[in-house]
Order: sequence, then structure tokens, then C-alpha cells
Amino acid sequence: MLRSDALIRNAMLYDGSGAEPEVADVAISGDRIVAIGPKLVCDATATVEANGLALAPGFIDTHTHDDTVVLRSPQMQPKISQGVTTVVTGNCGISAAPVQLKGDPPDPMNLLGNAGAFRFPTFAAYVAAVAEARPAINVAALVGHTSLRSNHMDRLDREASSDEVAAMRAQLEEALAHGALGLSTGLAYLSANAATTDEVIALAEPLAAAEAIYTTHLRSETAAVLEALQEAFTIGGRSRVPIVVSHLKCAGVDNWGRSTEILAALDAARAEHPVACDCYPYAASSSTLDLRQVDERVKITVTWSTPHPEMASKTLAEIADEWGLPQVDAARRLQPAGAIYHCMSEDDVRRVLRHPATMIGSDGLPLDPHPHPRLWGTFPRVLGRYSREEKLFPLAEALHKMTGLPAQNFRLDRRGLIREGYFADLVLFDPATIRDAATFDDPEQPAVGVHSVWVNGAQSYTVGGVTEKRAGRFLPRASATVRSKL
Ligand code: ZN
Ligand code: CU
Repeated sequence: MLRSDALIRNAMLYDGSGAEPEVADVAISGDRIVAIGPKLVCDATATVEANGLALAPGFIDTHTHDDTVVLRSPQMQPKISQGVTTVVTGNCGISAAPVQLKGDPPDPMNLLGNAGAFRFPTFAAYVAAVAEARPAINVAALVGHTSLRSNHMDRLDREASSDEVAAMRAQLEEALAHGALGLSTGLAYLSANAATTDEVIALAEPLAAAEAIYTTHLRSETAAVLEALQEAFTIGGRSRVPIVVSHLKCAGVDNWGRSTEILAALDAARAEHPVACDCYPYAASSSTLDLRQVDERVKITVTWSTPHPEMASKTLAEIADEWGLPQVDAARRLQPAGAIYHCMSEDDVRRVLRHPATMIGSDGLPLDPHPHPRLWGTFPRVLGRYSREEKLFPLAEALHKMTGLPAQNFRLDRRGLIREGYFADLVLFDPATIRDAATFDDPEQPAVGVHSVWVNGAQSYTVGGVTEKRAGRFLPRASATVRSKL
């Protein structure tokens, strides 16, 4: 008879491929799924009665800034409580490694922590730190262009010289050799905005041979968003690597309604080349406070400010009023600071979410003292609000956007699907009640309706909260795994 460590009985099984669910049992042995089928006959050490609840592959948070928090707070409660079992770090051009700072981290690297948080001069050192911290969830990492720039340039408001690009490329190659997923850029930020398209193409040169990918926070998400998308397609096309457009959106009142046009451009590019995108299910963005994004028509909430911590969680309008200043001057006085911008239209968000190339990514900011609710709420919000209540897409499709599709696009080995031989990253939840409890006023609230989460076969979260088991690993990209086996 089949022996297993754990047997999950009578689950409504969503395998992550987007296929319709089926009632089945799943047997886990060690870190793997060893059997799937109706009424398995199995001698199991532990049995979990699912009673028809939904069982899906663990969710892959495609867009995070969890680089340092996976080491500092390895329980990873904001993520595992949503059913997330893997986070992709290093997005938007900023990664914790490889980094050697000369002083304070430049904006927006400060989203990952202060100078003390950047302790990894090589990518290999970061991989070792993840192994040592044993986070509750798996970590896969991109290398940030801005991080590389800060290692080799005296100032960031100019293009890198060819020598500087060569030095950056050597570090990227070291990271790829140690399993990095690829390169990310954040060309909208002032610390990378002066980089030309050619600088990025020159840097991206080693990606194709390594079967790595290119992800980008576009140079513009406002008026010039279409041109910025074309630039991303040029970089990915010329480098012959798949592209992931980060948090695709139309930001700013003057751009509302342009998602149709943007998605048409995405589809045209997809006919020629692999292109995907990620999206968080909210009509508000969050990052550092950017003077260029101050617009009196948009509600902006300040989430932190180094010189004025007392202003956190007030709106910029209130602060400007209190100080008797125009908002842009108040924003200048608050620097460095963080903000939430209610800068999108709900219709655009829905249109992007629904698109077949769209994956789910939280873009949560774990160190923010008053974070955007996406940090705790993204995945249950897609399942509860957008799939169940608003019927934007069937549950199987919503789950595919957070499991099978990202595993394929980010080239994660044997993750994202429920298959025999795959890693046992699983989430058991109630599709009738799952919902996000985190709100803009009260953002640090765990999801409702998540019953159990397994990571590499270890039951790491239950209705009682996080368990003592922390079984997350560093996940090298699939081609790196294959290579190291040869
Ligand atoms: Zn970004
Ligand atoms: Cu981001």
C-alpha cells in the first residue's frame, strides 16, 4: 500500500492549469506530491479532511519587495496567511543583492531597508542568507538594475559608461550563475531614469544564454506609457528574453480609460514575443513619495516620512493645509517619505486583471509602517471580491493567474501545478468565504477563509495561524537547476 506523510482527503482540486476542478485526494511524502486521485488507498501518518474545500497550488507572489523581510521576519505572516508559498523578490530595479552601498540607499532602494539591511555584496551571499534564515515560504529573486548602478556609479542621474555597464554585467552574470531569475528595471525612478534603452540592452546581454527573463517597472505609467511599453518590447526583443511588465496600469487622471489601448499594444507584442504582466487588485498605487506624481485631483496618503513621522497616515492635502503650503511643497518638506496614490480607475484595473497575460503580484511594501492593504490582501481579494463577487473570471482562471502561469513565466521548476512529483506547495481554502480583511484604514489584517498552507510538504499555516514549521527555500530558476545537475 502507498505510504505517505500526509493525506488531504476530499478536496475540490484546482490543479493550477486553469482546468475545471475535480474532487480528489492528494498524498504528500517528504517535500513532494506523491499521489493524486479520488479515494486514494494510502497509509498516511496524518490525514486532513478537506470536506470539499478548494485545494490549489500555493500562490506565487510574482511581484514583491520582500528581499530583506524574508530574513528579518521569516515567519512571513502577511504572505503565508494569504496562501502565498513563493515570493519573487528584486522587482522594480531594486534588489538586496548584489549590493555594496557607499552611504544611505538611494531612493527607492530605501524601500528594502536602511543601510544596515544591505549586507550582500554577492548574490551567492544572499542565497546563503535565505538558506540560513529558513523563511516560511520560498524565495526566488531578480537582480535590480538600480542596485547594480548604485554599486558602480558615482551618481545615478546619468547614463552608465561602457566600463560601468561591463562591471554591472559581471555582477549580473555571478547572480545568474547562482540561480537569479533575471534582471529587473525601474526606469521611472530618478535613480534609473537617465539610463538609456541601450544601457539596459547592453546589460541584459547575458540573460538569453542563461534562459533568464527581463521584468520592468516601465519608464512611464502615465502619459508616455505606450512609448514605455514599446521600450520594454525593444529591450526584451533585442535581448531575446521573455518580458514581464510589472504592475501594468494607467496612472493619473488624464490616462484613465487607456487600458484598452495598452492591452492592444501588449497583444500585438505577444504575437511576436513572450510578454506577460503582473497586476495588484487595487485602484491605488504605493511607493516612495514622488514630487512628479503630486496632483491635487488625486488623493495621496503619506505612509511614512523620515523628518516628519508624525504626519504618517494623513493625506497630503491635510498636511499641506496644516502647513499652509501647496501640496508639492509639502511633499518636498516630507522627503524622504512613502505614499499611497489613489491614481487609477477601477475599470482599468479590472480590464488589466482580466487579461489572459496577467499574473497576480502584490507589490506589497513590508517595511511600511502604514502599508497599502495589498501587502496582506492581494490574493484573497482576487479570489473573493473579483472572482466570487464580481465574477470577473472563474475561480480556476483566477487561481491559474497566481499559480501555473507565474511558475511558467518565471521558470520555476516543478511549482505552480498539482502534479505527481511536483513540490508540495499547497493551499486549502473555502471558496465561499475567502476574502481580504485588510483595508486602507486597517491594512495589517490576515485573510479570511484560508484553512491550511503547505510549503515543501510542511503544514506551515492553519486556521490557528503560523505553525513552527518553516520550510521555505531559495528557488533557483529552472535552467540553473538543470545545469547544476549536469
Ligand atoms: Zn514598481
Ligand atoms: Cu514594485
